[in-house]
Amino acid sequence: MLESPTSRLFRRIGLIALFGGLVVGAVVVGHQSGRQPDTQVLLAQRIALGKQLFNDSHLSADGKVRCASCHMPEKDYTDGRQVAVGVEGRTGTRNTPSLMTLADAQETAFFWDGRRSALDQAVMDPLTNPVEMGLHDQAQLLERVQGDPAYAQAFKQAFPDAKPAISSEHMAAALAAYVRSLRSPESAYDRYAARHDKTQLSPRALLGLAIFQGKGHCAECHRLEGTPAMLTDHAYHRTGVGLDAITANLPALTEDVIKRSLQGGALGNRVATHADEAQLGRFNITQDPADIGLFRTPSLRDVSHTAPYMHDGSVATLDDAIDREVYYRSLQAGHPLQLTVEEREDLKSFLQAL
Ligand code: HEC
Ligand code: HEC
Repeated sequence: MLESPTSRLFRRIGLIALFGGLVVGAVVVGHQSGRQPDTQVLLAQRIALGKQLFNDSHLSADGKVRCASCHMPEKDYTDGRQVAVGVEGRTGTRNTPSLMTLADAQETAFFWDGRRSALDQAVMDPLTNPVEMGLHDQAQLLERVQGDPAYAQAFKQAFPDAKPAISSEHMAAALAAYVRSLRSPESAYDRYAARHDKTQLSPRALLGLAIFQGKGHCAECHRLEGTPAMLTDHAYHRTGVGLDAITANLPALTEDVIKRSLQGGALGNRVATHADEAQLGRFNITQDPADIGLFRTPSLRDVSHTAPYMHDGSVATLDDAIDREVYYRSLQAGHPLQLTVEEREDLKSFLQAL
């Protein structure tokens, strides 16, 4: 039976009234739940403020560099360069890691050498790093943020009870909230793992998974546990990359590091400006000779989008990275591994599904 235009109109008005009532009801309930803004709302405001800070190039010495200059959203929060380029075109010593994997991988140590164990601290270091954003100190940073009227309201909304609302702690909290909110999209492997649905992976990728878990031993470090899979063991391993160049100079280099005993941000500044010391990796933090040349296992989530590879960006393509890892890791573990060209392609198909 056909509906008359009038009854259709009445039905529509009824729906609008119902919808309007729901919205009013939701607002009233929200209002009655106390004067404290809802934690979800507050978190959203902190994330928004963090995003604003992340994209603000005024927070750099030359007014041209923002977090997003190196952690580019369109490049999965990496920059596609071998090593990072910051203020005045100065180059650092390390490859820019993706920020999209941190929350999913449940990372609790930050930077390639894990020199920071709190994200709130890690997000502030780049601002005063001489080859990244290059500000003198936190006082100069605070001055710039306080002097920008665009921030007054945003800080008050994100930190309603705080006096003063604008402080470096709150800046850190907002930036960390934003970074934590970045997630890599659900991958074909995630869908496969969630439902054990083999149709989500190509036959090649399935063969690659078998190698990754089996004779390749990749999953010993790039672990498949977690939902989504973390693809890291949160540990440090000696890497075949970069150490050769400094071996001759090792005694003097390590002695200097021990003498200086830098920590946190100061260590970050030093490492970003001294390529040879940067290759010492975890040793810079622990000063334990056993940690010379060890680096954090990176999560391989989204890895096919984050070239170039390794802590110093010295490996240009995913194929090269696979060759390196197959050769070096198997050598290290004492079970030299020969993979055919076909098997390497399988492994690559699997990595592309992460
Ligand atoms: C000049 C390029 C550059 C800029 C600008 C920059 N970063 Fe980074 N970021 C890097 C590099 C390079 C590393 C790795 C450094 C290392 O491991 O020693 C890094 C590492 C990080 C990490 C640790 C990631 C991990 O996997 O451990 C976080 C968090 C981070 N940056 C956040 C930020 C924030 C927030 C800003 C802005 C305040 C910012 N970065 C600005 C290049 C940059
Ligand atoms: C003993 C632990 C370990 C094993 C086993 C291992 N990896 Fe790694 N992997 C690492 C570490 C540590 C790095 C970082 C090295 C560096 O930056 O110098 C890394 C880096 C990588 C990268 C580059 C990631 C990036 O973002 O730069 C790829 C790709 C990779 N591994 C794939 C593999 C594959 C494939 C296998 C198996 C054939 C494998 N790995 C086995 C520890 C391991």
